[in-house]
Formats: sequence, structure tokens, C-alpha cells
Amino acid sequence: MRVPVIAGNWKMYKTSGEAAAFVRAFLPLVAGVREVEIVLAPPFPSIVAVAELVRGSNVTVSSQNVHFADEGAYTGEVSPRMLADAGATHCIIGHSERRQYYAETDDAVNRKIKAALAAGLTPIFCLGETLSQREAGSTFDVVEAQLLRGLNDIPAKEAPKVVVAYEPVWAIGTGRTATPEQAQDVHAFLRGRLKGMWDDAAESVRILYGGSVKPDNIATLMAKQDIDGALVGGASLAADSFAKIVKFK
Ligand code: PGA
Repeated sequence: MRVPVIAGNWKMYKTSGEAAAFVRAFLPLVAGVREVEIVLAPPFPSIVAVAELVRGSNVTVSSQNVHFADEGAYTGEVSPRMLADAGATHCIIGHSERRQYYAETDDAVNRKIKAALAAGLTPIFCLGETLSQREAGSTFDVVEAQLLRGLNDIPAKEAPKVVVAYEPVWAIGTGRTATPEQAQDVHAFLRGRLKGMWDDAAESVRILYGGSVKPDNIATLMAKQDIDGALVGGASLAADSFAKIVKFK
């Protein structure tokens, strides 16, 4: 049984004060939830405040990006060790907005995943095709290449610590969700490729769906065999809507 992960990606929204207000409203709404891993990914400046507020609760904290070095002359970057020290347990890696706007490559994503694992952080490794790639019929080729390059040289023993997020770029922030069947097809394909790489350990990998997940579509997505959770953008910004998604059952 894979424990579902529901992660909220706040992107570049919320000051620390706004983040704290969210957490105070959100914790009581999800206090009874035990069978779901709940993750909040605020911008860097709010990680410490959010981590302190959720300490001892059923909610954990993620960053939205990470550097692959422990430390060094990398102006503007944050290392895995610094994130762990700030109270984060997860980090989102390879989000399509980072690939698109900051030229993040599969090789950089691979180095970041390795660095996160070495620091004891759980990587939430994002991949997904663009609309033109889907229309050209190359969805499976694209996600396969992203998956294999992103996880290159990572041994099967790390499988339980790796979270994959399938996020079709055309569904992110557009209100156009993949159908549960479209998502399941890709998730099953990814699970098959993970099996090729890691054998039975692939069964323990949580594969999240992301892209316009809302309170009214989460349940049908979660009903699919290989959908093990969600990475939620817009609908994670308000405590009540994100709590409804967390309590999808
Ligand atoms: P969305 O974003 O839920 O607003 O579509 C998802 C994401 O980018 O992780």
C-alpha cells in the first residue's frame, strides 16, 4: 500500500505573514487526517516560519527548488543541507516552470535529485509533456526520457524515498485537467519504466498527478490505481480548498 502524498505548491505567492495565517487556518481543518502525507511548499523566505508552525502536526514542508551543491559560490541558490536545517523534509525538483523559464535541464534535475537524497530530503520530481508534444503523439517518449535522465544512476534502494509528479504542462494553471484515464495511462507507463529500472521497488514509488487539481476532481483522479496523490498549485493557496483536496476520501 502506497501512502498518498498531497502537496501544495504555492509558487511565488504569500509573504511569511500570509503563510503563517494559512497554516493557522489549515492545521485544524486537517488535524484528523492520518492516512495521507500532507506537504506545503512555500517560497524560500517562509520555510522556517511554516516549519515551526507545523512542528508536531501531520503536515510537512517542502521547498520548490534546490541547488545540487552542499555550499559554494552560487549566488541566489539554496543547498539541500540549508533546506533540511530550515525544517524542510521535501523539495520539488524539475517543475515545468523551472524547466521553461530557468532552462533547467534533465541533467541538472538528476544532480538535484541525487543531492536531495544525499541530504535526506524527499525529492518531488516533476515531469510532463507540453501541448504540442501531446498533439504530436510523443507524450510517452517525452516522459520516458525525462524519467530515465532524471533518475539516471539512482539505485533501487532509494525508490521508497522518491516521489514522481506527472504534470502535463497544458494542464498547469489552465483549468484543463487531464482526465483520470489520461493521467492513469501515463502513470501506468511511468510505473512500468520504473519497474524496468528498479524491479519490484518501483511498486513503492508514489506517482502524483498535477495540473488543475481541485476539490471537485481529486476523488476521481485518486480512484485510479497508479495515481498516488497530487501536486496542487492554485487550489493549495486557500486553506479550505486545500483541506478539501487533502480529505478527498
Ligand atoms: P495548478 O498547478 O494546480 O495551478 O495547475 C500545479 C503545479 O504547477 O504544480
